[in-house]
Amino acid sequence: MLPKDTFKGKTVLITGGATGLGFSMGRMLLELGANLCIMSRKMEALEAAKESLQKCGDGHIWIHPCDVRNAEEVEKAIGYFIKESGDVDALINNAAGNFIAPTASLSHNGFDTVLDIVLKGSKNCTLTLGKHWIASGKGSKTVLNIVTTYASTGSAFVVPSAMAKAGVLAMTRSLAVEWAKYGIRQVAIAPGPFPTEGAWERLFPGGLDKKLGVINQIPLKRVGDHRELANLASYLLSDFAAYINGEVITIDGGEWLKGAGEMNFLLQLTDEQWASLKRS
Ligand code: HXC
Ligand code: NAP
Repeated sequence: MLPKDTFKGKTVLITGGATGLGFSMGRMLLELGANLCIMSRKMEALEAAKESLQKCGDGHIWIHPCDVRNAEEVEKAIGYFIKESGDVDALINNAAGNFIAPTASLSHNGFDTVLDIVLKGSKNCTLTLGKHWIASGKGSKTVLNIVTTYASTGSAFVVPSAMAKAGVLAMTRSLAVEWAKYGIRQVAIAPGPFPTEGAWERLFPGGLDKKLGVINQIPLKRVGDHRELANLASYLLSDFAAYINGEVITIDGGEWLKGAGEMNFLLQLTDEQWASLKRS
């Protein structure tokens, strides 16, 4: 969608970028000329991702192990990336933890684990890079937060994730105003279902998606394609989106609206039923 050299000379840091949607966004950014910095907990996964991504573009790829919950580890990893790359131009807060569970069954540690990865992790990365960017005074920087549609609606059975993503969305909107004067934009994407190993094994264990017909919840009757999300992320990070600040873009095939519309349940009526209703 974008010109080949859209990100030439730019460096993008992706948390959780060795797998799933983070990997797919990284691949497209590399194809568009970017350098990549990737951090997550598992060094093996980072090394495998680097090897595979190297075939997708000429940009540099730096990796560093890091648990985003730990502010000291985040500062160390980001310090390494800045030193190696010269500077980081954009941050994608993509790392997440999640699982389905009845809320009353959760331990405090189970609840906090998801809150800490998503909310504290996104804060740790944003604050560390933001302070550096403000001190350097260069401007033209972007933070892209990957949230979910239920950051706005809330959702049963993923309450820690919904709370944390709502907090990340609040951070997006708050800093959009506070940091704009430093040339730092904030944007967010709220994806619906995009199949990844990490999400599917935790949200739909034992093939729950097929058993419950998840796809029927989506007006477009299909899940998302990774390249669709990567295209949107690339656009939001690019200069073509330079006037978009503080917005969250939903990409879910209309899924959340289907759950929300008062009369949407009428979708189950057949043409014959509509005809007989008109007659009566
Ligand atoms: C209840 C659980 C649990 C589960 C873990 N815990 N899994 N509780 N149900 N399924 C509890 C544990 O019992 C423990 O509490 C606490 O959580 C910490 O567990 P650990 O295994 O020690 O944590 P850790 O090794 O840090 O792993 C974090 C994790 C794990 C979140 C639990 O799943 C992970 O690493 N996830 C990363 C990737 C991921 O989740 N990707 C999916 C993102 S999808 P106790 O009290 O026993 O000590 C996504 C999609 C959103 O966000 C929208 C989709 C449409
Ligand atoms: P994923 O492959 O499981 O990605 C999560 C990544 O986060 C992993 O690479 C993981 O790497 C990293 N991570 C987890 N805990 C971490 C920690 N403490 N420190 C550093 N890194 C950590 O899942 P995904 O589906 O691609 O999800 C990517 C993003 O999209 C998430 O923000 C998710 O909430 C969002 N999302 C996904 C969907 C979907 O349908 N897939 C829908 C809505 C929103 P390590 O294990 O190596 O740490």
